Amino acid sequence: MGRNRKKIALVTGASSGIGRCLARQMAENYPELHEIWVLARRKEELEALQTECPETQFRLLVMDLADKETFTELAGLLGAERPHICLLVNGAGLGHNGPTARLETSGLCDMIDVNCRALIAVTRLCLPYMGRGSRILQLASGSAFLPQPGFAVYAASKSCVLSFSQALREELRPRGIVVTAVCPGPVDTDFFRAGGITLSPLKRFFLADPEKVAKKALADARKGKALSVYGLSMKMVRIVAKVFPEGWLVRFHVNQQDSSEKIVENVHC
Ligand SMILES: NC(=O)c1ccc[n+]([C@@H]2O[C@H](COP(=O)([O-])OP(=O)(O)OC[C@H]3O[C@@H](n4cnc5c(N)ncnc54)[C@H](OP(=O)(O)O)[C@@H]3O)[C@@H](O)[C@H]2O)c1
Repeated sequence: MGRNRKKIALVTGASSGIGRCLARQMAENYPELHEIWVLARRKEELEALQTECPETQFRLLVMDLADKETFTELAGLLGAERPHICLLVNGAGLGHNGPTARLETSGLCDMIDVNCRALIAVTRLCLPYMGRGSRILQLASGSAFLPQPGFAVYAASKSCVLSFSQALREELRPRGIVVTAVCPGPVDTDFFRAGGITLSPLKRFFLADPEKVAKKALADARKGKALSVYGLSMKMVRIVAKVFPEGWLVRFHVNQQDSSEKIVENVHC
């Protein structure tokens, strides 16, 4: 990496929740960064971040990650500026719950487009601008540990993120770039409101503070960890998912949630 290149962090999903906390904590704790590029659709929320942290130079990227044109635009910007990306956070994501047959096809595809396609595309676009010591934080989820009837496509999208991150970590090891998959359980953000999701009392009880999740994620990335799992309950879920047969656990989950699909759709042959 050239010495004169601008050192930056790029954070997608920086307009709210965990991504926003990560962007703010970087602003406070990484004075070596010349700029933090923050990407989301809501411009006013990104502007509010700049107001909150006036000492930090933010670059506001008001972009929609569900739109493929965004990747061309981002590639052009990176090519023109040729920054040194010290930190990449893929924080943008969304979730819709309910039995798959009852959800809109467009909503299901949005989850794949943003949670998987955009995360992979943004990562790929950033790789030429990263070097030894750079860090990539991928927002996966505890949902990645086990298939989740009633949240099937979301959980599948997150297991894609986890699998991709773990493999990419090994691909990038020789270049000294560290990939950390962040796998929290329920976190107290706009995520549930945005996805129209009502939380069960149990999940509400375990809601984590996004500031703490972000702090742990940054600390784990700094230590070079492959996974950042916040909270004892999620660590237990991970162990249970490894120890017990997957089929049992998935069925147990269905019985708990009563979310098995009973609708038989008309099939036109
Ligand atoms: N909250 C949880 O319980 C939880 C648990 C585990 C993992 N996660 C994961 O953590 C990540 C952050 O979630 P959060 O809890 O912080 O939720 P959040 O507060 O709803 O934040 C989601 C972020 O993603 C951005 N985003 C969504 N769609 C986008 C699009 N099409 N283009 C650009 N940006 C888009 C949103 O920005 P705009 O709306 O401004 O575009 C927002 O900044 C997600 O990947 C989520 O799956 C969340």
